[in-house]
Amino acid sequence: MTNTITPSASSQPYNLEEWKRGYDSQPNEYDYEITEIEGEIPVELSGTLFRNGPGLLDIGESAIHHPFDGDGMISAFSFQDGKAYYRNRFVQTEAYVKEKEAGKILYRGVFGTQKPGGLFSNIFDLKLKNIANTGVIYWGGKLLALWEAAEPHRLDPQTLETMGIDYLDGVLSPGDAFSAHPWIDPSCELDDGAPCMVNFRVDPGLSSKITLFEFAPDGKLLRQHAHSIPGFSFIHDFIITPNYAIFFQNPVNFNPLPFLFGMRGAGECVEFQPQKPTNVVLIPRDPSNKEVKTFSVESGFVFHHANAFERDSQVIVDSITYQTLPQVQPDSNYKEVDFNSLDPGQLWRFKLNLEDGTVEREMLESRCCEFPTHNPDKVGRDYRYLYIGAIPEDTGSNAPLQAILKLDIETGERETHSFAPSGFVSEPIFVAKPNAEAEDAGWVLTLVYDGSKHRSTLAILDAENLAGDAIALLHLKHHIPYGLHGSWCDEVFS
Ligand code: CO
Repeated sequence: MTNTITPSASSQPYNLEEWKRGYDSQPNEYDYEITEIEGEIPVELSGTLFRNGPGLLDIGESAIHHPFDGDGMISAFSFQDGKAYYRNRFVQTEAYVKEKEAGKILYRGVFGTQKPGGLFSNIFDLKLKNIANTGVIYWGGKLLALWEAAEPHRLDPQTLETMGIDYLDGVLSPGDAFSAHPWIDPSCELDDGAPCMVNFRVDPGLSSKITLFEFAPDGKLLRQHAHSIPGFSFIHDFIITPNYAIFFQNPVNFNPLPFLFGMRGAGECVEFQPQKPTNVVLIPRDPSNKEVKTFSVESGFVFHHANAFERDSQVIVDSITYQTLPQVQPDSNYKEVDFNSLDPGQLWRFKLNLEDGTVEREMLESRCCEFPTHNPDKVGRDYRYLYIGAIPEDTGSNAPLQAILKLDIETGERETHSFAPSGFVSEPIFVAKPNAEAEDAGWVLTLVYDGSKHRSTLAILDAENLAGDAIALLHLKHHIPYGLHGSWCDEVFS
């Protein structure tokens, strides 16, 4: 009789209890040189990796309702001469400071965190926290912590001390939103090939106003223009090509009444409409060109775009899409998620034909994946290599991201670096080697939460040989809760 081992239903490559602890709060602020290192930090790796994400997942006795409501905490890893230094600080937002003083939740969160005291303490209280927890970018001499529904906070890049809300030298007014997903165009055609930072804000309503901003390397505003599109919009990310800023207007409804009446967070009132098409809106980046183009496509829900580029009469957009998206429920606990019941994020390519207005789409990667990145020289350009957080093997379902996947778009070849069973990855960041020619000559940096040791490790992977051994694993003395977005800056701040 042959012995067969039947995989049990629990043969998933992770332990849910270990995964959950990555959502424990990290209330402490640290400063130290990282000394527990496996492998060696490349001497040529010189600069600072900034990361942002929720640091507190509970306040006083109360757990927050969704990690998107957690107070922003910035981590900085600075690299020089083969050494690395770690520092983290909470963004001292008005709400963080007041809630820390009070030891309890005082503000409502967009994703359903309510003040204690039930309906009567939340009714008609529209005061939201500007939690500064989503993105971080160093541009124009300023380090900015970003949250899409309000103004950026400026921090000292050296000490991470909060300097206050930043209005970008008068570009923003109090209360203005500024997206957490800026892109840096490495070579802007409108500026004789100089780099520029492109970002947007959405003023939602029955119609949605999208304002586009472009900033010079010294932080000065180059261009700003606004366009209204019909319908409510929930737009988290966008993508650029040399000529266009591209927005996916996901098919969602917003019913503000439960929010106004204190029963739900604003994010809980957004309802995905899977039967409706997505509108893809192309806004010309040149303000003198007013010809906005709109395409209709069956797409699912998109949070993040990988890249876009122009080829002949096509604009090609690569995006992570979800066939369906569950609504955040008031009585749900984000840690008790049933991954198998959720649709995976999958990488799709959309080919928008500028001549006849049609769209073709094809799936580039079916494996559950999220947080795409690539060589920053390729933003808005045809590119070959994509790096993305992924599940270690394609099981057809959703699961925590435990691997970094490198996809060769030209050949379809895939390489995976897995941290399963106890490692859970965050967004990868690509750093090019100095004077590199090849698109993949560089390092992929990702922060990995180790559920078996309850601490985090920064992994430096070889982008040209992703599946090979890590170049270095930098073990921190503590954990960092699962984060959102980060960015690399060539300057060393330590
Ligand atoms: Co994002």
